[in-house]
Amino acid sequence: MSVIKKFRITKIKNSKPLISLKKISLSFQKNHLILDNINLDISKGQVIGLLGPNGAGKSSMMNLITGALKPSFGNIFIKNEDITQYPIYTRTKKFRISLCPQIGGYFADLSAEDNLKAVGEILIKDKKLRKLKIEELISKFELDAVRKVEAKHLSGGFKRRLTISMSLLGEPEILLMDEPLAALDPQTIQMLQNIIIKLQSEYNLTILITDHQARDLLVVCDKALILANSKIVAEGTPNELMKNVNAAKYYFGENFKFK
Ligand SMILES: Nc1ncnc2c1ncn2[C@@H]1O[C@H](COP(=O)(O)OP(=O)(O)OP(=O)(O)O)[C@@H](O)[C@H]1O
Ligand SMILES: [Mg+2]
Repeated sequence: MSVIKKFRITKIKNSKPLISLKKISLSFQKNHLILDNINLDISKGQVIGLLGPNGAGKSSMMNLITGALKPSFGNIFIKNEDITQYPIYTRTKKFRISLCPQIGGYFADLSAEDNLKAVGEILIKDKKLRKLKIEELISKFELDAVRKVEAKHLSGGFKRRLTISMSLLGEPEILLMDEPLAALDPQTIQMLQNIIIKLQSEYNLTILITDHQARDLLVVCDKALILANSKIVAEGTPNELMKNVNAAKYYFGENFKFK
């Protein structure tokens, strides 16, 4: 059964953006800009897709939002507050930001269950509540059969399910998902798509998500943007992007179809 997103939030009236990137530039070496004067507004409760060729700067953009990277120029605002100089822990705590990283994100030598317990102990003080939350996530991500298996021995799909479940332990308000659908089988992709749609519709989570599984990504997005040559070269709803000349030129190619 294919995944159906019942609505797309494309315009939000009278609301200030939850996250704003203003004139953001990023470079690691002199004369080589990874991001060049990026302006982006993300509204509360939106699912925004971030597409772009390898090395375009998608993970870097997420790291700028978490605070793992500092911009060379420009400012980042959350709820109208300039957070550019805030360290990672302040941003995480104050704005409940959670990152599900492209690679890793778990303790290799701990079992799936102990990974959840280790992070849960930091994020959820109440013992009973913590236990409940962990069991809820084990059930939601169908991890029960592998709960005692060390993370390093899990298959790629289970590793991904584990890291995504860990990223939800602290009940984030803002979730950054870096290639959550990469190299997964079709049923696991559908399971994750359904979870993403539910996180938005039931918990009003704001989600920024990257992936090269463009079709699978667009299914869950309200809007998506394409990052290429250090700039946002196209943005819009999935249907709008299909008609966008720059989207085809810089990312999709000529024969790509969304549906
Ligand atoms: N800490 C760093 N130091 C130096 N260069 C970096 C650093 N982080 C990223 N880069 C460079 O910045 C560019 C953008 O990297 P980034 O990982 O953000 O791309 P991406 O769009 O996520 O690519 P992919 O689709 O392959 O994951 C790359 O050229 C990368 O080598
Ligand atoms: Mg990346």
